[in-house]
Amino acid sequence: MRFLTELKRTHNNGALRGTDVGAEVVLMGWVQARRDHGGCTFIDLRDREGVTQLRFDPTLNDDAYQVSIAARSEFVIAVRGVVESRGANANAKIPTGEVEVAIHEAAILNEAAPPPFPIRDEVDAGEPLRLKYRFLDLRRAPLQRAMRVRSQTAMAVRNFLVSQGFWEFETPILTKATPEGARDYLVPSRVHPGRFYALPQSPQLFKQLFMVGGYERYFQICRCFRDEDLRAERQPEFTQIDMELSFVTPEDVYEVVEGLLAAVFKEVKGLDIPRPFPRMPYDEAMRRYGSDKPDVRYDLELCDVSDLVATSSFSVFSGAVAGGGSVRAVRLPKSVGDLTRKELDGLTRVVAEYGAKGLAWCRLKEGGEWQSTFGKFLEEGALQALGARLGLEEGDLAFFVADSDKVVFAALGALRQHLARHFKLTRDDDYRFLWVVDFPSFEYSEEDKRYYAMHHPFTAPKPEHVGLMATDPLKVQAQAYDVVLNGYELGGGSIRIHRAEVQAQMFKTLGLSEEESRSKFGFLLDALSFGTPPHGGLAIGMDRLVMLLLGTQSIRDVIAFPKTMKASCLMTQAPSLVDAGQLAEVHVGVLSGKEDVGVEEVEEP
Ligand code: AMO
Ligand code: AMP
Repeated sequence: MRFLTELKRTHNNGALRGTDVGAEVVLMGWVQARRDHGGCTFIDLRDREGVTQLRFDPTLNDDAYQVSIAARSEFVIAVRGVVESRGANANAKIPTGEVEVAIHEAAILNEAAPPPFPIRDEVDAGEPLRLKYRFLDLRRAPLQRAMRVRSQTAMAVRNFLVSQGFWEFETPILTKATPEGARDYLVPSRVHPGRFYALPQSPQLFKQLFMVGGYERYFQICRCFRDEDLRAERQPEFTQIDMELSFVTPEDVYEVVEGLLAAVFKEVKGLDIPRPFPRMPYDEAMRRYGSDKPDVRYDLELCDVSDLVATSSFSVFSGAVAGGGSVRAVRLPKSVGDLTRKELDGLTRVVAEYGAKGLAWCRLKEGGEWQSTFGKFLEEGALQALGARLGLEEGDLAFFVADSDKVVFAALGALRQHLARHFKLTRDDDYRFLWVVDFPSFEYSEEDKRYYAMHHPFTAPKPEHVGLMATDPLKVQAQAYDVVLNGYELGGGSIRIHRAEVQAQMFKTLGLSEEESRSKFGFLLDALSFGTPPHGGLAIGMDRLVMLLLGTQSIRDVIAFPKTMKASCLMTQAPSLVDAGQLAEVHVGVLSGKEDVGVEEVEEP
């Protein structure tokens, strides 16, 4: 066989055009489809760049023709032939459609078993089957497009950041717990019985130490590991575009991040995104959208009606206000759409997921009559007052949730999103960036009776709030910021604490004893005492960024080898059992009574 050695590939399968007619070419790739036609065989030959039609004619070369007879879907073949015009039979749907290649020489490079699902854009196969055979799924055009955009994104990031004076470094994977708020993945040490490394939830402390080391501008496209409940936009291991800068204010970070995102959108989508991005204080985002990552492509804003119902005879409403919570509403204008009774009832389930104990609604019918789930509990005129506050017009609906602010915001924020999806109020290619700023530094957990850092414990408070850390933590605002795109938190960051005594106070407010602070973060406290420059940074979720660039629904669609919602890999069957000897070597035992539940079974077709 002369292929590979003597006959090198001359073109990829997306390259040939009418101007190539007459050229002798060598192509290689996968058999996408084969058709027999009056003594000739046609094969669509595919690679990552496209598809080219091949014609095998026994009168041209019978050996080559025999190869085409033997070839099946997904066989890997190599061919030599001459480019011919398809004339009136041109296929306008593909870029190579003007031509076909008449084959003079062909070889099968490898055979293929029949694939468990066809390799084409749309397949019926469920996601589990596609994940089990991910190597075949990766051959499909949508995945190849996603991976191409992923690679382009990484390159645009590197080009931009390097042009801005950033240096790229790696940081350890076997390390010590870094508190980003999730559970750690632990790795037992063989050499140190009973001790464990933690996989990094982010390179947070290392990147700060680069600043202590005098590197000024660092970035890394890095893997982070978080053992948390998974959702469509979360994976247990994911990729961050991580950066840190010295001698900066938040404004300086915004400028770099906006420039970076603009460079990526220009490179990948050819789009100029408007800058600077608008800013919105956290309080306003919660109040208007019930979310700290609002989708501002549509209105459906929240409205506080607590004062109107504080003394209402409807105890669900007045009780919530009396208990320190609130009653808030979302108006659905008639111009946006209407809902059937069944759809209205279904919405209770949407808000229940966020802890709401019910969803009250009312409608101002044409002709001015009221229809509602709670009007009968209200006094005369109360519905009218609510309607006036909400600006209800005839044909409009309004939804109410009464609970703690936390539940009300979460429930109505989710309802807003649900209604936007239901009425198709958004376009994927409408990109609305914003900065959410002025986050509180702390939140209080009633359950654990302690404060937690909203971002992470290395985030600097606003200078004027440092004193409040000891006396009134909930009043402290952080120098933290999130960059938000279309309802997703794309990235988050902050200016860091660079003074040892402020960091010590932070640990104290979080309830860490001096001993604990030293044992967990002694190296950081030491570093801060040796001339740490003021510094800050941010990390962008790269998987989410690529997902939004492509308009896909799940980050699994833009990760080559993703995990399932149960954090397993259906292809490798990880996590897997290990034998007792291996466990003993790392001094680990499995608790008795803990049965192996295995990873998810995949049904073969
Ligand atoms: P944060 O925890 O906000 O900040 O993470 C930054 C960004 O990473 C993405 N992200 C995720 N993507 C997929 N799956 C996950 N499980 C997941 N978790 C987070 C989000 C998020 O905005 N060290 C700080 C950054 C800093 O302060 O500089 C950090 O990790 O898009
Ligand atoms: P009930 O008295 O439980 O029949 O509730 C009357 C109406 O109020 C129903 O439409 C409920 O869905 C609604 N409702 C109950 N609890 C709440 C709540 N916490 N917030 C908003 N609506 C509620």
